[in-house]
Amino acid sequence: MAVEVKMPQLGLTMEEGTVSKWIKKEGDTVKVGDILVEITTDKLTSEVASEEEGTLIKIVAEEGTDVPVKGILAYIGQAGEVVGGTAPAVAPQVAPAPKKDGKTKIAVIGGGPGGYVAAIRAAQLGAEVTLIEKNKLGGTCLNVGCIPTKVLLHSAEALAEAKEMAELGIHVEVKGVDWNKVQAKKNAVTNQLVSGVSGLMKANKIKVIEGVASFASKDTLAVTKKDGSKENLTFDKIIIAAGSVPAVPPIPGVKENANCVDSTGALSFDTIPKSLLVIGGGVIGIELATAYSRFGTEVTVVEAMDKLLPMMDGELTAQLRKMMETRGIKIMTDAKVQSVEGVVAGTKVNVEVGGKVEAFTAEKVLVAVGRRTDTEALNLDAVGITHDRGRISVNDKMETSVANVYAIGDCLGKVMLAHVASAQGEIAAENALGEDVNYDGTTNPSCVYTDPEFAGVGLTEDKAKELGIEYQVGKFPLMANGKSLIMNGGVGMIKFIIGKEYKEVLGVHILGPRATDLIGECALAIGLEATVEDIIATIHAHPTVTEAVREAALAAEKRAIHIPNK
Ligand code: FAD
Ligand code: NAI
Repeated sequence: MAVEVKMPQLGLTMEEGTVSKWIKKEGDTVKVGDILVEITTDKLTSEVASEEEGTLIKIVAEEGTDVPVKGILAYIGQAGEVVGGTAPAVAPQVAPAPKKDGKTKIAVIGGGPGGYVAAIRAAQLGAEVTLIEKNKLGGTCLNVGCIPTKVLLHSAEALAEAKEMAELGIHVEVKGVDWNKVQAKKNAVTNQLVSGVSGLMKANKIKVIEGVASFASKDTLAVTKKDGSKENLTFDKIIIAAGSVPAVPPIPGVKENANCVDSTGALSFDTIPKSLLVIGGGVIGIELATAYSRFGTEVTVVEAMDKLLPMMDGELTAQLRKMMETRGIKIMTDAKVQSVEGVVAGTKVNVEVGGKVEAFTAEKVLVAVGRRTDTEALNLDAVGITHDRGRISVNDKMETSVANVYAIGDCLGKVMLAHVASAQGEIAAENALGEDVNYDGTTNPSCVYTDPEFAGVGLTEDKAKELGIEYQVGKFPLMANGKSLIMNGGVGMIKFIIGKEYKEVLGVHILGPRATDLIGECALAIGLEATVEDIIATIHAHPTVTEAVREAALAAEKRAIHIPNK
């Protein structure tokens, strides 16, 4: 009985491949492991080896044919055996619509990393762009998100390093923290970046209107400007990038209590709190817990789920939790806040944990239980833009249910990350200007700026298991990496998830110094459908932490040099 030779999936993003060259011809005898055919994708060339012994009785996909993953390439069987079938060819790409000649009028609602990037890309493609922002250019990211948190984390890390300088043979006297200066630095960095975005708007001839936009019709926005005046403006295309705001949980007492703050409040405390209880062990909770604990605050984290950072690799998350606990952060998982009450010392938080209700008192409470889309003012229903409780629905082209209206970033209520918003912004602008491109989040890294940093891309081990993918794991502890040892005493680990059959990189997870930078190489590997061999074949500089990336790849093949292979 003849067996099929199928187009392999050489990477997470691969959907089809082209048969570039048949090494074996019809009638040739083949052994297991013999190279049959060379396949190319838009990213790489790879060889397909035979998994059977017999005769190559029929080539179904001739050279030059595009074949989808798992499509039939050929049959191997007994000489003389007859089989049928042809390879299903991939439908030709729809030719992109011709670009207009530079006069398409585009509106972008919101000037965050989604909106301002979309506006710039649209201007690059020749559109006449108007950006409407109700608050400050830069959105959440520059004003109350990514950037200000990282400034606090940087100061906190500098303080921790200064305290540990003696170990490096350097004696410094740490006199304390000048909180006003920390805040001033945070504001200066933020302002510099916001004015940089304003400069980019001018350089790209983008008209910025300060005001709130709302749909008056499918192509007209009612804009209420900062000075109170109102104007209806009509556009050819509209990109919604309205972002998100902190979610307030229905916990009794939270709303009324002035000591309960969201992330925006926690970035601008008047003084460093003596104690802080964090509701929510997600990204915001963990980053701010890390910063304040470094500044000397007594920190308690209460997380409803059974682990912190649910989207990150579980094994490394457990390691991070231990490290945080060793530094004195109290962490409770499977714990539910019942209510919050004002008391003289600050706030009493009643937490149900292990079947009992325990009371914790803290000067401040950070509520970080997720964010909700900021789409109420947009009047979506009136123009028929489909959404799910404010989360705007789009396809891969970032098109909403209404023609010529696109939506990107946090206001979709899915992956709320600045780099995702920006990537989607470019896609929306390109499609609005006649191109035909799709958003693909496969290479999207998740980064948490803890100490050490934590980053991941692709599948976690849990996800690979859930999907029933056969995988192998390579782990390399950073204790065995020279540069990590110098930088942080060798704390952390790199973990590769590799497909068992084709050895493609499925996921990489890093807990260690510079993890958030190292993950770039791994995202590229996934995007290029690289195999573990591609990582291994790349020479990594010494002494760097990147060497450990290669070592973890080697470990997946039981070839690690600097640790014993199990
Ligand atoms: P936003 O940045 O929220 O921008 C939306 C803009 O639209 C806002 O300026 C808003 O004023 C404006 N707007 C809304 N409605 C209207 C309207 N009707 N008319 C006019 N204007 C309107 N992400 C990362 O990738 N890395 C990080 O390290 C990171 N750290 C974070 C830390 C914190 C504390 C927080 C809160 C978030 C963090 N994020 C981080 C998430 C990141 O900030 C968001 O994913 C990102 O800002 C989303 O970009 P956006 O353009 O979709 O929306
Ligand atoms: P999150 O979704 O990351 O985490 C919220 C956490 O709160 C979850 O673990 C959830 O289980 C928990 N929770 C929910 N209700 C609870 C309750 N009643 N009691 C206890 N725990 C409860 O949301 P977070 O941290 O607010 O951040 C919002 C978004 O901002 C993130 O999803 C992320 O996209 C973005 N962000 C990204 C950062 C980065 O990339 N480094 C940094 C900070 C934020």
